[in-house]
Amino acid sequence: ELQPATITVTGAAGAIAYSLLFRLASGEMLGKNQPINLRLLERTEAMQALQGVVMELQDGAFPLLKNIVVTDDADEAFKDADYTFLVGAKPRSKGQERGDMLKENAAIFKEQGRSIDRVAKSSVLSVVVGNPANTNAMIASYNAPNTPRTSFTAMTRLDHDRALAQISKKVNCQVEDIDRFAIWGNHSSTQYPDLSHATIRGKWAWDLIKDEDWIYNKFIPRVQQRGAEIINARGKSSAASAADAALRHMRDWVLGSNKWVSMGVCSEGWYGITRGVWTSVPVQCFGDGKFGVIRDIPMSKESASRINKSIDELLQEKSMVKDLLPNQTLRGVEV
Ligand code: NAI
Repeated sequence: ELQPATITVTGAAGAIAYSLLFRLASGEMLGKNQPINLRLLERTEAMQALQGVVMELQDGAFPLLKNIVVTDDADEAFKDADYTFLVGAKPRSKGQERGDMLKENAAIFKEQGRSIDRVAKSSVLSVVVGNPANTNAMIASYNAPNTPRTSFTAMTRLDHDRALAQISKKVNCQVEDIDRFAIWGNHSSTQYPDLSHATIRGKWAWDLIKDEDWIYNKFIPRVQQRGAEIINARGKSSAASAADAALRHMRDWVLGSNKWVSMGVCSEGWYGITRGVWTSVPVQCFGDGKFGVIRDIPMSKESASRINKSIDELLQEKSMVKDLLPNQTLRGVEV
């Protein structure tokens, strides 16, 4: 029998985790032969609620779930972790400035980055879900100097999958038929959902859609604003779909993907994107945590200007948290 893989989930008493944990336990991420241990991190105030979630996990009698650790201590939570889902974050409170929200979260991800660096496996892979996801991933990585920068990614897979669903509805095709789609930039309303390279069963999607008005005035804004649309309808932010995207993000990263997927990764300067910010880009996952950014695709002026707008926002976020970034260069990247 395989050794259990250790998966850490933060914000484990929250809404996304409530959907994610049960799917991890049922083997949807690593397959039905791979046993897992869960290490769950929460704020002290949420420990009791988390105990309730643990009781439900026990009641699921999942054959693959070998052990659960519950803690409010980061070093205990990340101990020997193979995979971490960094979901826990502070939402913006009523009337709070975005800058203050950024700083509060920055403090959380600084501590967690340090802790991962200290106690997780050196091969650990981390996906940041908690917002502002890109900037939080950057902060965690800056504070984990012994962990490769490529081991911290921000989740833009929900945006990616939202877009695939809209495209498949528009052209009446299967989601699996679509490839070469990309989300660029920040996980925010400035993101650029890029249809310009997309194919449907190998044919150029732009030609099949034949409707630029739809692309620019319906599709792009809809994907950018989908989070708000869900909040308006549900009164709460996306949770089950976010958990699904987190699981797919990690599964593809670990097991590989034969198509383009979008992930927020540390820029190395491709396409003129400033180095050292975590931007969503199209990648191909080769398995075992290895991925390659899709390089050298032609970039229209329109696309470049939309991407730049989102990168500007990331640079602004970075300047707002600069006090929390240690004075050091990231391994292998000049910043
Ligand atoms: P939630 O509020 O239901 O749960 C968050 C949990 O995190 C709470 O239980 C809270 O106690 C915990 N938490 C806060 N600080 C913590 C810390 N320092 N350590 C450990 N746990 C901590 O929120 P929900 O709906 O689960 O969303 C979580 C995050 O995911 C939010 O920041 C949300 O904006 C973000 N999100 C990101 C998406 C993406 O596409 N990247 C999509 C949807 C949500």
